[in-house]
Amino acid sequence: MKLYNFTELRAIAKERKFQAIGSFNLHCLEMLPAFFKAAKETNSPLMIQISTGTAQFLGYELIVDSIKSLSKTLDVPACLHLDHCSNIDDIKKAIDTGFSSVMYDGSHLPLEENIANTKIVIEYAHPRNVTVEGELGAIGGSEDGKAVAESDIAFTTPEEVQAFVDGTNVDMLAISIGTVHGSYTAKTNIQHELLNRITQLTKTPLVLHGGTGVSDEDMRLVVASGIEKVNVGTEMNVQWVGNVQKTCAEGKVDDSVRKFLIPANNAVQEVLKQKIQLFQ
Ligand code: 13P
Repeated sequence: MKLYNFTELRAIAKERKFQAIGSFNLHCLEMLPAFFKAAKETNSPLMIQISTGTAQFLGYELIVDSIKSLSKTLDVPACLHLDHCSNIDDIKKAIDTGFSSVMYDGSHLPLEENIANTKIVIEYAHPRNVTVEGELGAIGGSEDGKAVAESDIAFTTPEEVQAFVDGTNVDMLAISIGTVHGSYTAKTNIQHELLNRITQLTKTPLVLHGGTGVSDEDMRLVVASGIEKVNVGTEMNVQWVGNVQKTCAEGKVDDSVRKFLIPANNAVQEVLKQKIQLFQ
């Protein structure tokens, strides 16, 4: 079973009446079957993304092979995307191993340099049928365990969107409109007007990062306004770890490991199902 790139998966999602695609961060291999079961139950294609840290921890080949195998067994079209990566060698490695989509994150660079580097990635990715996500503006919170400094957070500037999209021919664009990566208690402050201004400037699919903690109402609104890929990561981590903490505390060391993991996987499956249904 082949892995689909974002553009191909988006077309399948549209046929199945989904307005946006959830892109879900995989934190460990054990939770992968739960991702597929949720997609199967909602008749949704599945976009799985992983950080470079998780890719290195699990091994690039193992992830590609596992996702291809589950995609074939359960007949769920899947895309494997490398999340936030600013190292072009790591991106090439992911592409060479079989990832079908990648993100080059040059949001911390001056615009010209971000465009130039994103173009280098696209020149490598497109001939190999791999889609590329770029980023403009800086999203707060933490990325792959590293906190983004408050002073570095910046909303996307509409004036830069056209230059970036025209200059790179990127397949999807991550924008900063008031969400934050990671688990947090503060309410998000989504800039709906800014999103509307940006959607008027480009037909390139737009990506919302920091999906954890965004209310269902805001989620529906941003999707209706043109967000086509929604990243959700921390919420599955929180559910999985919380459940494992509880089952481990209650269990005995000679209980089967699966006894500890099944409730965690069930909780992750519910998170995905609930999010996917918001995109329909
Ligand atoms: P959350 O962890 O806040 O859901 O964000 C995920 C994300 O945007 C990964 O790129």
